[in-house]
Amino acid sequence: MDLGLTGKKAIVTGGSRGIGLAIVQTLLDEGATVATCARGKEALDARLDAWRSDGKTVYGEALDVTNAEAFESWLDSSVESMGGCDIFVSNVFSMLKSQGIERWQEAFEINLLQHIRATEKIVPYLPKGGDSAIVFIASIASVMNSNPTETEYGATKAALISYASQLATKLGPDNIRVNCVSPGPIYHEGGFWQMVEKQQPELFKRAQSVSVFNRLGTAQEVANSVVFLASPAASNITAANLRIDGAIIKTVNF
Ligand SMILES: NC(=O)c1ccc[n+]([C@@H]2O[C@H](COP(=O)([O-])OP(=O)(O)OC[C@H]3O[C@@H](n4cnc5c(N)ncnc54)[C@H](OP(=O)(O)O)[C@@H]3O)[C@@H](O)[C@H]2O)c1
Repeated sequence: MDLGLTGKKAIVTGGSRGIGLAIVQTLLDEGATVATCARGKEALDARLDAWRSDGKTVYGEALDVTNAEAFESWLDSSVESMGGCDIFVSNVFSMLKSQGIERWQEAFEINLLQHIRATEKIVPYLPKGGDSAIVFIASIASVMNSNPTETEYGATKAALISYASQLATKLGPDNIRVNCVSPGPIYHEGGFWQMVEKQQPELFKRAQSVSVFNRLGTAQEVANSVVFLASPAASNITAANLRIDGAIIKTVNF
């Protein structure tokens, strides 16, 4: 199937590793031009060099998305460099470091506010009446109530899904689609679950065993769904939240 992504212009946040990296790679392989960002300059530059030497058109800058001014200015300059923007994939998260009420503030900033800030900035650039799309990377933690270490993460991801669904309704008449994906545990180089595998092997085994496939997911499996939802091939799909979790969540997904 031709996803119709050749010549499309996409912004993907957090493309230097993991799920974001797989999304950027897949969009580039499908013929899109991509702009991405991450805090770590060395890792980002290494990726950008590799893509460019592979003949891809890709832009990138090291910045922190919680720095509103730097983030918004980069979004503007990315649209200018690419000559427009058809697709926005809001992917960034980082591990929470603080405790107590500050942990909630940190979670609110990284899992909700920066997504909204970027979206408000990007929406005016998206072509109306064409097929433009926004995809948010949420999590199955949004529907879980039994993991005390993920309280702030789950609650803020749930808020992100609510925001996305409401935005889909608002932007539908302009033919701008808005969807979420909710991955289960995803194993990738340098990621959270690689750390768990080394430091908490019992927890790692438990996470594998709750999937009906008895394994964790891959970044590419998430990227495949994200790129499909971002593409004109998904032209009648909006306000959806697609679980990519090997049926870890034991409820019927109406
Ligand atoms: N992995 C999982 O099991 C899993 C499960 C469910 C949902 N998800 C969701 O999937 C998305 C990606 O997860 P992942 O596992 O691929 O994460 P990851 O491995 O931690 O990668 C996150 C990416 O975002 C960048 N980043 C982090 N904080 C940033 C900031 N403040 N400003 C700019 N860039 C920043 C990172 O680069 P730097 O560190 O250099 O900034 C990196 O490129 C997240 O929304 C996450 O909640 C993941």
